[in-house]
Formats: sequence, structure tokens, C-alpha cells
Amino acid sequence: MSSSLATVSYIGATILFILSLGGLSNPETSRRGNLYGIIGMTIAVLATVFGPRVTAAGIPWIVGAMVVGGSIGLYAARTVQMTQMPELVALMHSLVGLAACLVGFASYVDTSIVLTGAEKTIHEIEIYVGILIGAVTFSGSVIAFGKLSGKIGGKPLLLPARHWINLLGLLVVIWYGREFVQAHDMASGIVPLIVMTVISLLFGIHMVMAIGGADMPVVVSMLNSYSGWAAAATGFMLSNDLLIVTGALVGSSGAILSYIMCRAMNRNFISVIAGGFGTGGGAPAAKADGQPAGEVTPISAVETAELLREAKNVIIVPGYGMAVAQAQHTVFEITRHLREKGVNVRFGIHPVAGRMPGHMNVLLAEAKVPYDIVLEMDEINEDFPDTDVSMVIGANDIVNPAAQDDPTSPIAGMPVLEVWKAKTSIVMKRSMASGYAGVDNPLFYKENNRMLFGDAKKMLDEVLSALKS
Ligand code: TAP
Repeated sequence: MSSSLATVSYIGATILFILSLGGLSNPETSRRGNLYGIIGMTIAVLATVFGPRVTAAGIPWIVGAMVVGGSIGLYAARTVQMTQMPELVALMHSLVGLAACLVGFASYVDTSIVLTGAEKTIHEIEIYVGILIGAVTFSGSVIAFGKLSGKIGGKPLLLPARHWINLLGLLVVIWYGREFVQAHDMASGIVPLIVMTVISLLFGIHMVMAIGGADMPVVVSMLNSYSGWAAAATGFMLSNDLLIVTGALVGSSGAILSYIMCRAMNRNFISVIAGGFGTGGGAPAAKADGQPAGEVTPISAVETAELLREAKNVIIVPGYGMAVAQAQHTVFEITRHLREKGVNVRFGIHPVAGRMPGHMNVLLAEAKVPYDIVLEMDEINEDFPDTDVSMVIGANDIVNPAAQDDPTSPIAGMPVLEVWKAKTSIVMKRSMASGYAGVDNPLFYKENNRMLFGDAKKMLDEVLSALKS
């Protein structure tokens, strides 16, 4: 393939990636967006493999690597549970970071690249910065994977003088950057490069370990952004324009997502990075003295069905538990049944519900819930006082009134769905355990709240059959 054909293909792929991002911003166009992305990526891979920079001798290596990587990817995509998607995404981000580090070291030790003067300095800065971003992304994503999968607790690790440790690390990295660029030969340059890599790896671990459970949504999107910048840095090291552009697209869209997540949680980016918001997840909701925090009123599936049948307006608030129970299809059946009976059923979606951006929207779309009854938090929050029943399905932190009422709460200030303002709120969960942020939820003890204890799928099946009988 000639270099001009490769360039044209790259431009075509870039346009498709931009169209893909545009499509993915809306559930109705997201399938098309995905398709654009797939076509763009196919063109990009073909144009690279058959492009002017790959020799015939390299093709078997590339094909071999693609078969191995593709098989692992295919296996992971087919076997992963919907609830494990956030961890899988974190793991994928870590691979982008690892690739940037490996490409960085490879292009440093590559003796076929002979540069002098300013060009050499620029190339070395690209390598240094590329490996730095790659290493932070790699280790940070591995820790995020651990936290999202529950292998590492959600409690923030707050080392004494942690900001000073980070600052010291930064100064050492800058110092060794100077040493690296000034090094006369590879042997004296490799030491600063390795020291910087180790510090960056430790920084990535420290940064994500210090972040509390409640801030994980921002971390997920931030690492998404970092992986984009790591890819762009790889593009600079390899002088590959397409990689620079796509990396910048991912980097900037991840940064915008981080901003949206910060706004959804009423947090600023710096305090997220500073860490410590939220505690470990999954602890039973009890006061410090171990006593239950109040009386709760349980409700049965049959009583829930009665309340729903008599209601005119119902708002359903799904959360992570709906994903765990895979209850979305039954939720849809109940919604359809109630709508046929003339009940106005709508969904209220919190921006950080579940464990990844858009988690609930994906599940509801999969179950074919109509998009026009799925509303964002800001669009629906004012309607709770005019609602007969608000039904919370496996959600906890996103409906916690302590965020508004208790300034000492670890999630104080985070906007929440005000389900307790409905005539009756029903919370469907298995126990009194707290949510991801690990904080007690006073909603459970409110007078107009009822608890429907049990697995969401099982309880909703019972509600559905009671509704139909
Ligand atoms: P959570 O606060 O985590 O609450 C989910 C609740 O679902 C749990 O309290 C659990 O209680 C219940 N549950 C689990 N399995 C269930 C099942 N099979 N049936 C019924 N209930 C079940 O979820 P949320 O309200 O969606 O809030 C999201 C939280 O995750 C926020 O703190 C957010 O910051 C964090 N987070 C979000 C993201 C993104 S990007 N969305 C990423 C990382 C972290 P039981 O154990 O008692 O059943």
C-alpha cells in the first residue's frame, strides 16, 4: 500500500472515529456509533499492517500477535458478566498503559533510529513522557481493577504526608528527566528511565489507593482519559498520526466524562485526586455503637404489587443491584404491564448509578425499555413529590438523603435522587448492607419507606406474578 493511500485511509478512519463518538453520546444512535467505530478500526488496522512502514518479514509477527490478542479479547468479551464490565474496562486501560511503556523502551533501545540535535531531544522527551503516562495508567488501572472487582477494599489508603510523597516523586521524575535527556549514551540514559518508570508505577498505585469508594466513578473516567493520552504518546514515539489523533480523542472525551462525573458528584477534580472520599463498601448499616440505626418497615411482593396497581405515577430508580440480579427484563415486563393499565411509569437515572458511566442505560436498553421514559436525575428530581410510588431497585448511595441532610456524611453534597419525597418509597435489596461508598442510608428508616428484602430478580418476578393474578 502506498503511503498516500495509507494517509487517506487514516483520515477516513479518523472521521469514522469522530462519528462513532458522536453516535455513542445517545442511546438511540449508539448502535450506529459502534458500527462506525468497528469500520474505522478495521480500516486503521489494515492500513497500518499493509502500510509502507511494515515490511513483509514483519507481517507473520503481526498476524501471530493479532491471533493471540484477538482470541483472548474474544474469549473475554464472550464470557464476561455484565457486572464485570467495569473491571474489564479497567484491565483494558491498563494494557494501553503497558503498551505505551513497552513501545517507549523499545524505541529507546532501537539502534535503527539515529537522530541528532533537537530531533533527538524531542524524541527522548516523547519517550520519557510517554513511559511516564503509560506507567501511571498501567498501575493505576490495575489497582482500579482490584477495587472495582472487590479484590481490594474501597477504603482509601491515606498515608501520612501523602501529598509530600507525591511532590517528592514529581521532583525526582523531573530531575531524572533532565539526566535522561542529557545522557550521552544508552547505558547512562536507561537508568533514569527505569527510575522514572518505577516512581510512575508507584505513583499510579498510590493515587488510586488513596481514592475512596465514592470517587471511583471519576477514577474510572480519569483512567479512560489517561489511556487516551498514553496512546497519543505512543503515536508520537512511533510517528503515527492516527494513533496521536485517536489517543487525543479518547483522552479528551475521557476528560470531559471526568468533568461530567465530578459535576454529578458535586466534587472538584483536585479533591478527587487528593483522595479520601467515601469508605469501604459492603459493611452493614449500623451506628458506631453497633446498634441498628432505626426501625424499618418491611413489605411483601404482593403488597408492593397492590401499591403499584393503585398508583397513577411511578418512578423506578435502578442501581447496581439491578445489574447484579440481572433484573432488567422483569423490570421491563412490570413497566409494560403497568403502562398497559394506564400507570405513568418512568425511570430516574443517576449519573453514577451502577459501576460504569451509562451502566443503567445500557441494561434498560438491552431490556428494550423505551428511551423516552428513561430520564436523567436533573430531569426527574422535581417530580418525586407528585409521585405515588418510587421503586428503588438495588440502588443505595444514589438515593441516600444523608448527602443532603448530614454535612458530616462522607457523601455530603453529592446530588441524589429524592425518592423519599414520593408518597411511598420502596427499596428493593437483600439486606441492610450499605452501598459502594460504605455509608449508612437513613432512607431505609423513613416513615413512608418500605423495604422489600430479597434478590431483585426474584422479588420482581413475584411482584409481576402478583400484578398479573
Ligand atoms: P450501591 O450504592 O453500590 O448499592 C447497590 C445496592 O444493591 C447494595 O446496597 C446491595 O444491597 C444491593 N444489591 C446487590 N445485589 C443485589 C441483588 N442481587 N438484588 C437486590 N439488591 C442487590 O449502588 P448505586 O446506588 O447504584 O450507586 C453506585 C455507587 O457505585 C456509588 O457510590 C458510585 O459512586 C459508585 N461507583 C460508580 C461508578 C460509575 S461510573 N457508575 C463506578 C465506580 C463506583 P444488598 O447487599 O443489601 O442487597
